[in-house]
Amino acid sequence: MDQRSVRDILAGKTYFIRTFGCQMNQHDSERVSGLLDSYGCLMALDPAHADIVVFMTCCVREAADTRLYGQCNSCKSLPPSPSGKRVVAVGGCIAQRDGEGLLTNVDNVNVIFGTHSIAHVAELIAEAFLDGKRHIRTNEHEDTDAMSMPWHRETQYHAWVPIMTGCNNFCSYCIVPYVRGRERSREPREIIREIENFVADGVVEVMLLGQNVNSYGKNLEQPMTFAALLREAEKVEGLKRIRFMTSHPKDLSDELIEVMKESKKICPHFHLPLQSGSSAILKKMNRHYTKERYLELVRKLRAALPDISLTTDIIVGFPGETEEDFLETMEVVKEVQYDSAFTFIYSKRTGTPAAVMENQIPDDVVKDRFDRLLAEVQEISRERCARFEGQTMDVLVEDVNDHDPSLVTGRLTNNLLVHFKGTEDLIGKIVDVHLDECRGFYYMGTMISK
Ligand code: SAH
Ligand code: SF4
Ligand code: F3S
Repeated sequence: MDQRSVRDILAGKTYFIRTFGCQMNQHDSERVSGLLDSYGCLMALDPAHADIVVFMTCCVREAADTRLYGQCNSCKSLPPSPSGKRVVAVGGCIAQRDGEGLLTNVDNVNVIFGTHSIAHVAELIAEAFLDGKRHIRTNEHEDTDAMSMPWHRETQYHAWVPIMTGCNNFCSYCIVPYVRGRERSREPREIIREIENFVADGVVEVMLLGQNVNSYGKNLEQPMTFAALLREAEKVEGLKRIRFMTSHPKDLSDELIEVMKESKKICPHFHLPLQSGSSAILKKMNRHYTKERYLELVRKLRAALPDISLTTDIIVGFPGETEEDFLETMEVVKEVQYDSAFTFIYSKRTGTPAAVMENQIPDDVVKDRFDRLLAEVQEISRERCARFEGQTMDVLVEDVNDHDPSLVTGRLTNNLLVHFKGTEDLIGKIVDVHLDECRGFYYMGTMISK
């Protein structure tokens, strides 16, 4: 279908997007949204008011699958759409994994588009409006260059910048490499130009995104390290804060630690997924580091950046995990003192090597370990959070507080949240805030200056 026909069909239609999963998906949703906007569609805040309902899905754990089926089915009971016709489109990682197979779980989907086919979503939706048939596109070999598509940013002051897509690591429990394809880095020039454009547009903070940013640039025509890319980003005038996610411990270089130490813009926060504290389990997970190597990296980071916040991801109940293995994870947690940790119960993903490993752990054992880990992690987070009490720190104001409109909410460079008296016009500004009181996992503060 030509672009003009797509526009004729889509102009004036309303759309609603619900996103599950990681920041990569959030960003892909911004691209979908940007594309629909460019054809004259209008965003709706409620699926009941939308002609087009898009679900951007995640399949990293089983719970996400089930949630999607429920959400899709609930579209059946929505009131009629404004135009009288509604198209339900499913994109993201479940769409890529299941393709047409998705229809065995949900029968009211009109469009299925995979993670490599985002650039075609407008066309697929327009076709579905026109002929009422199903349109499915999940070709993993098409490189639609979604990166150069228009996009609709959620906020004026912050932007997500994907620096690479896909993953080559094949951790034995993880579905991501199968649904996102192989690792591919974007050209540094393109990334920096994009950041410059954002800054010209009012952005002060960027989050550089990739499944493993530490291996950035290895497959470029002219290879470049992630540390070197950060040096270039640092030079962008007007940019105030640089964040990045996620770092795989196996590729964390001394050069990166050095760049962070010298930088005035890179936030002192490092998300370094541990997954397990047992070297035997790490080996089965195909993570390519040991507990000792991980702890050594933590020591290096702390030596270079004493105030750095460390956060992590941990999986409990990986096949074969013994009580001793679990206790090693608990020990690492106590030793590292994470500022926060995302804890997950191992979820069997069909098609991954771990799914067919022996010794899958019974649910009650996993639940018990999970509860013990969570209690430990939360106690440490609470103690760690309080360590800045009484200090005055830079805060980027993000929003008016949901519960109390006389307050605004902002973020410290180390990622903690602070609530303080302020007004909407402060959103997007960086201000000095005195951290009066730590309340569990956040602060109450007082603004000192604008
Ligand atoms: N690329 C990132 C992680 C992406 S997935 C990295 O390697 O750090 C985010 C987190 O989900 C992972 O760090 C892991 O802790 C968790 N996860 C992935 N697959 C999982 C599974 N099958 N069961 C439970 N948790 C899982
Ligand atoms: Fe999954 Fe491992 Fe790749 Fe992260 S690095 S996305 S956990 S395979
Ligand atoms: Fe989920 Fe896909 Fe991200 S599986 S975690 S949305 S890459």
